Amino acid sequence: MSANVSGTEGYVEQAAALIERWRTLSFGDRHRPILDWIPQAPSRIVDIGAGVGTDAAALAAMGHTVLAVEPVDALRNAARELHASTRIEWLDDSLPDLAVVLAKSKRITFDVVMLTAVWMHLDARQRERAMPRVASLLRDGGVLIMSLRHGPVPAGRRMFDVTPDETIRLASEQGLRLVRELRTPSVQKANRDSGVTWTRLVFR
Ligand SMILES: C[S@@+](CC[C@H](N)C(=O)[O-])C[C@H]1O[C@@H](n2cnc3c(N)ncnc32)[C@H](O)[C@@H]1O
Repeated sequence: MSANVSGTEGYVEQAAALIERWRTLSFGDRHRPILDWIPQAPSRIVDIGAGVGTDAAALAAMGHTVLAVEPVDALRNAARELHASTRIEWLDDSLPDLAVVLAKSKRITFDVVMLTAVWMHLDARQRERAMPRVASLLRDGGVLIMSLRHGPVPAGRRMFDVTPDETIRLASEQGLRLVRELRTPSVQKANRDSGVTWTRLVFR
């Protein structure tokens, strides 16, 4: 499906290199600032924009059941091959509509929705459209965990500098309350050296 999904520009062309680079990322290092919001008990988690499945695999290894949503065929197929797990279901779908996920999850909600390094690929209208759909995936008391990238945009990518304030407003319009906000440098050295920082947000 990847060809026409806005936000995926650059990922199709660079898939082979990204698969190599992302597969070695450590879940613990990347998510340290929000790790205490990942449930200890086996939970249902949806990872939207799952990339090459590094997070999905780590979450499955912790005992969670993961729906990993990724629109770029090359990334999703590589992820499926790299991380064979009965606890992960791979799905071809995309923001802002999440049509397949919503059709599928009519009777299922999730304990955690993860949007890691994805939201800034959407423009303002797409973010407005996406937030109610994302929020509808959460069970009562469920947690939405997001990261927003700030800094130079890699060549060929479609990316916007999304403010935490806007994201907090969109989430609060859906009844989601901010429980964590912090800014961190990138864990990837090349990105850190070029000034990339991240805002981590958790809502419930
Ligand atoms: C920077 S990568 C992050 C991947 C993964 N979440 C991680 O942190 O390793 C961004 C991912 O978002 C996906 N993406 C881009 N636009 C998207 C959209 N409109 N809907 C869903 N995913 C999208 C890309 O294909 C890519 O896999």
